[in-house]
Amino acid sequence: MTFADGNPSRFVASLPATVVTLWGKDDCPQHPVPDSVGPRTRNVKSSESLPLLKREEARLLEQLDLRRLPKHIAVIMDGNGRWAQRRHLPRVAGHRAGVSSARTVIETCARLDISALTLYAFSLENWRRPKAEIDFLMRLLREYLRKELPMLHRNNIRMVFIGRPEQLPAGVQQDVEEASRVTAGNTGMRLAVALNYGGRGELVDAFNAILKELRSNGSVSHPIDEETVSRHLYTAGLPDPDLLIRTSGEMRISNFLLWQIAYAEIYVTETLWPDFSRACLLEALVEFQKRERRYGGLSDAHPSHDRASRVARG
Ligand code: FPP
Repeated sequence: MTFADGNPSRFVASLPATVVTLWGKDDCPQHPVPDSVGPRTRNVKSSESLPLLKREEARLLEQLDLRRLPKHIAVIMDGNGRWAQRRHLPRVAGHRAGVSSARTVIETCARLDISALTLYAFSLENWRRPKAEIDFLMRLLREYLRKELPMLHRNNIRMVFIGRPEQLPAGVQQDVEEASRVTAGNTGMRLAVALNYGGRGELVDAFNAILKELRSNGSVSHPIDEETVSRHLYTAGLPDPDLLIRTSGEMRISNFLLWQIAYAEIYVTETLWPDFSRACLLEALVEFQKRERRYGGLSDAHPSHDRASRVARG
């Protein structure tokens, strides 16, 4: 790996052995991936094909203990509108710029071997926005999937969508199903896109699913436990996020992953989402590693009943 100013980086050795190269010169978004391709192995390429590492990024990377990275990062991508307004641009220009930040974060997390990344793309509350903005967001998502699904697939990323897809426009539903289907066999990072998502709605859906199951088993008197709730969430099978990042400075959870973030470290940055760079992500990871995680106990040890592994179903 090389600094942007051309100096060889001494941080190459600290990168994980299974660095994934995304967006390499062989990747061609115009060429759809045939369904028959199936799961792909990790695409490790020579350091020459890795993008340049800026000095600041290298400095932050050096501070990171790559063995103690979060397993699951969840992100509330906020501030697109303000980013655009500050530039006297229409709000939608902020959303378009936000796609580029999403791409950077996805790529960097995959390279760092993060197991799961969840991005809050569209909430149940976002329907209150003007129709033109909603339509633009839906078009943007479709455009993103059309252009980048082949690359995500080639890099062994498994895409899942969490939320209520049935209320999305038919075209979006088709693209979402296609992305899930094409990448279903991939074994690398899981990229969960929260789309038409609400945390309370997810809990209501989970409770109703549990009720239905209990009724059909004829065991309605059976008490439900945490593991049962986790198993019925949209995120079943994913570890709970250990880091929640929110951009643009608001100190709110905004109805995001209410159950799952019980023990997550929360990192809020003033940076607006379209300005959230790779260095910003590395900074969040450095901050995460400074925190002492006690899970209500006295030490850094995770509770013996590892919730993540108990709910993991593959
Ligand atoms: C909030 O900004 C952001 C959103 C409503 C989500 C849109 C996200 C993207 C377009 C990123 C792309 C994501 C993927 C998965 C490709 P805001 O409009 O609420 O900003 P404001 O608070 O400044 O008005």
